[in-house]
Amino acid sequence: MAIDEQKIFSIRTRLDRPVALIGMMGAGKTRLGRMLSDTLNLKFVDSDEEIERAAGLTIPEIFEKFGEPYFRDGERRVIKRLLDQGIQVVSTGGGAILNTDTVADLRDKAVTIWVKADLAIMLERTSKNDKRPLLKNGNPEDILRQLSEARYPIYGQAPICVESHSGPAEDILVQAVDKLYVYLTRQPLTEAS
Ligand code: S3P
Repeated sequence: MAIDEQKIFSIRTRLDRPVALIGMMGAGKTRLGRMLSDTLNLKFVDSDEEIERAAGLTIPEIFEKFGEPYFRDGERRVIKRLLDQGIQVVSTGGGAILNTDTVADLRDKAVTIWVKADLAIMLERTSKNDKRPLLKNGNPEDILRQLSEARYPIYGQAPICVESHSGPAEDILVQAVDKLYVYLTRQPLTEAS
């Protein structure tokens, strides 16, 4: 499916902040983020990768050695830095929105997109590797369901929601571009744009 070049142009003209992707693990934030950044010709950064790079450890290692609160504090600081780096696409870890400062930063400094997927999709995708320490504390399906219930009201504050599904990734990209375009063209143009 072709992306409308005129929409890309309008988005690039009007975008004056980073685009941040939020949503549950396995929803497809990183994949969509990479595709969106390629399409918009923007840099892509993933907060989990940045945390791993800064710590010199994988996320499971950080959880194991230092615990979740330590990881969350690093996550808050990394996302704050990434949102201050100008216009780029930032994919965040699923629990980033547990921090109220991060929620405020996402609201004030980014155009935030909630990438939403069905439980079955999240379960299937997260079962492919061992990267999510929170899913090792019990039945992954139950944990994903509980986390979704607790987090959906916060994800739902994002002005844009993209439905991720098991169909072609390009369709999800087209949906994201369309919704970003509609959102930005309803905003008044800023002086910078
Ligand atoms: C987490 C999601 C993970 C990672 C960590 C905790 C969560 O990121 O930050 O394992 O609390 O939902 P992804 O959403 O990229 O899998």
